[in-house]
This record gives sequence, structure tokens and C-alpha cells, in this order.
Amino acid sequence: MIPALEPGQIGPLTLRNRVIKTATFEGMTPTGRVTDALIEHHAAMARNGVALTTVAYGAVEDAGRTFTKQLLVDEASVEGLRKLADAVHAEGGAACLQLAHCGGFTKHSADPRGPSGGWNAYGTASGRPIIRAMTEAHMDRVTAAFARAASIAAEAGFDAVEVHVGHGYLLSQFLSPAMNTRTDAYGGSLENRLRFPLRCTQAVVDQVGDRLAVLAKMNLEDGIVGGLSSDEAPQIARALEQAGVHALITSGGLVQRSAFFLMRGTVPLAEMAAAEEGWLQFFALRVFGSFLVKPFSWTPGFFIAPGQPVVDAVQIPVVALGGLDSADTLNKAFDAGYRFTAMGRTLLADPDFIARLTRGEKPVSRCNHCNLCVAQMDSGVRCALP
Ligand SMILES: Cc1cc2nc3c(=O)[nH]c(=O)nc-3n(C[C@H](O)[C@H](O)[C@H](O)COP(=O)(O)O)c2cc1C
Repeated sequence: MIPALEPGQIGPLTLRNRVIKTATFEGMTPTGRVTDALIEHHAAMARNGVALTTVAYGAVEDAGRTFTKQLLVDEASVEGLRKLADAVHAEGGAACLQLAHCGGFTKHSADPRGPSGGWNAYGTASGRPIIRAMTEAHMDRVTAAFARAASIAAEAGFDAVEVHVGHGYLLSQFLSPAMNTRTDAYGGSLENRLRFPLRCTQAVVDQVGDRLAVLAKMNLEDGIVGGLSSDEAPQIARALEQAGVHALITSGGLVQRSAFFLMRGTVPLAEMAAAEEGWLQFFALRVFGSFLVKPFSWTPGFFIAPGQPVVDAVQIPVVALGGLDSADTLNKAFDAGYRFTAMGRTLLADPDFIARLTRGEKPVSRCNHCNLCVAQMDSGVRCALP
């Protein structure tokens, strides 16, 4: 049997194989609540053989939403989340909820707060141009929100939670020297920049770690000059392991500054502009887009080699992510020591990918990294290829 199809263990959770559907914002929560479309999207992933399907971007509090159509993880979402978990279980899969907070990267929160003050380019057209630095009281509130959201996932019958420590959201903002210029105990050295992300992660582990698998999605690097650099990644990985997470997912990039570092491939500027609701964002993307949104070339398994120092640094399983497009690329990840594989675009483009692996074929994804799925995700994520 190929490694991808062998059962695996993440903390308390046994998985039927080693294929995880990574978080790809579904665009199926128009009011911030679970819908039938979201339930069916994840049930279908499980039906198609995915071991663990990840519900994207569950905001741990209202101020943690980048935009209003993101799922809010509070008591009012429990019933919908329970239906989703039940539907995934009925298909033989397991369900994971991504727990996230956007910090200062928001056009929703009335009071954008990040590690440090600054300009919120993303929220400017929505009247939220200024980011202010978080106080200890804000940090306490957000820490409690992470713990509460984790316990809501458990109450709803989820099998796992994924703490979002990457991609330029709040915990990644604290880790990034480009966005964290604090001079107190939360800024400067890596030990200091880790303090708040670790506190939130620890709160999640303490809340549910004995019952649920706790994963953390971390950046290997930010993909910008002055951002988190790859030499700090092993230390971050070890710290997260010590905080008690059961597995790490290796990624990179900052959605607000280097979005295509984490996806690679074509930057569909015209389509991204067309999907923008505000005229100012539309105008800025159309006119300045090619200066603002830098492309990065796609290669199969583009984070496999950069993540090797993390694989070597920890005992817990590391989940390979990024450009896993074929049976061969999955095998390369396992050869490098990764113990699980996560895919986004491949599983959107090729629902039969796991069935083909199971039949002993060597599937190659038809995804061509056009990234139209990204441009169009707000209206229901799907592969744009015919
Ligand atoms: C349409 C789309 C939406 C995404 N939304 C999220 C998200 O909500 N949270 C997240 O952590 N990553 C998100 N990502 C990034 C993916 O999780 C993943 O890191 C990236 O797509 C690379 O993996 P892939 O090559 O298998 O697609 C998204 C990617 C795509 C294509």
C-alpha cells in the first residue's frame, strides 16, 4: 500500500488514510453561519475518501473576521457545525475546524488591532485604515476566544482543530518582524514574538487537546523582505510542539502582502478585481495590481524542501502542503519524512483523486494553478476548469 493510503494517528485521532483536505475558504457562509452548501461541500470531501476535511477560517470572535462572510465560531454556530461533523462522519471521514483571528487585517472589525500600529491597506476603502496595537487586555480576550472556539468545536463533535499561526493572520502578525515592531515582551526576539501565539495555542491545547487532535498551520517564511525568515521556522516548530500541538502543517506567505507565495502560479488580477465589492479596491487592483500582487512560480510540492528543517526538528507528525499534485509528489513528501499530506486545489479539481490512488493508478491533478478558484471563492469555492 502506498503511504498516502495507510491509516495514521494525530494525537488522539486515528485517520483512515494520510490525505487531509486543507482549508480553502468555501464562500458558503454568507451570514457567518453554517449552510447546507458548506455541509455538503465537506461531506463530499469525505465521500471522496479524504481522511480529515478542514472547515476554513472559523473566526474565534467577531473582531477576528477579515470580512463579514467568514464563519463565526460561537454558540449560535454549534448546531450547524454539529450537522456538518455528523455529515462528514456518516461518510467515514473526520472533521477539522480551522481557528483563526485576523488581527489588523480586516475590513469587518470596527477596531482593527494587531501587534503594532500601522496602515490597514485592505480595510482602507471600508473606513478602517488604521491598525492600533493590542493591549494586554486585548490579548487576554483573544486568548480566551481561542479556547472558547476550541471547546465549541468539541461540543459540535469535531475531531480536530487547526490553530492558524500562518498566512499573515493575527498569530502570524506577532511572529513577523515586518508587522510586529513592539518593544515589550511580545516583540523583538523570536522568544518574545512567540509569546502570544504560544499562549493562544496553549489555551486551545489545554481546552481540547485530550479529546481532539490539535494541529497548527505555520509559516516557513513570510515571502517578503523583512518578514519571518526560514531560519526561525525550526524554533517555532519546536515551540509549538512543546505547547502540545499534535501535528504541524507547513506553509508560508502573508495573504495581505505575498498571497501568491502560499499558492504560486498565475495571478488572476482581472478576476480578483471583478470579485471585489468596493469600487476603491476594484480600482486599486486594476490599476496597481501588477505592482501590488507579486507572482511566484509554481513547482510540484513547492514547500516540501523548504519544510525539511521543520520535519527534522520535531517528533510530532508534519503535514506536507503546497502543490501536492500527483501520486509521485505525495510519495516525495513521505520520502522526505512528512507523515501526512494536505491538498487544496488538487482536491477541488479532482474529486476522484483518492479513488484513483486506491485503484492503484498514479493520478496527476488537472489543476493548472490558474487560481481562478481563489478569485471566485466568495461565490462558492470550486475549480474553474471546465
Ligand atoms: C480558493 C482558496 C482558498 C483558500 N483559503 C484558505 C483559508 O481560508 N485558510 C487557509 O489557511 N488557507 C487557505 N488557502 C491556502 C491553502 O490552504 C493552501 O495553503 C494553498 O492553496 C496551497 O495548497 P495547494 O497547492 O494544495 O492548493 C486557500 C487556497 C485557495 C486555493
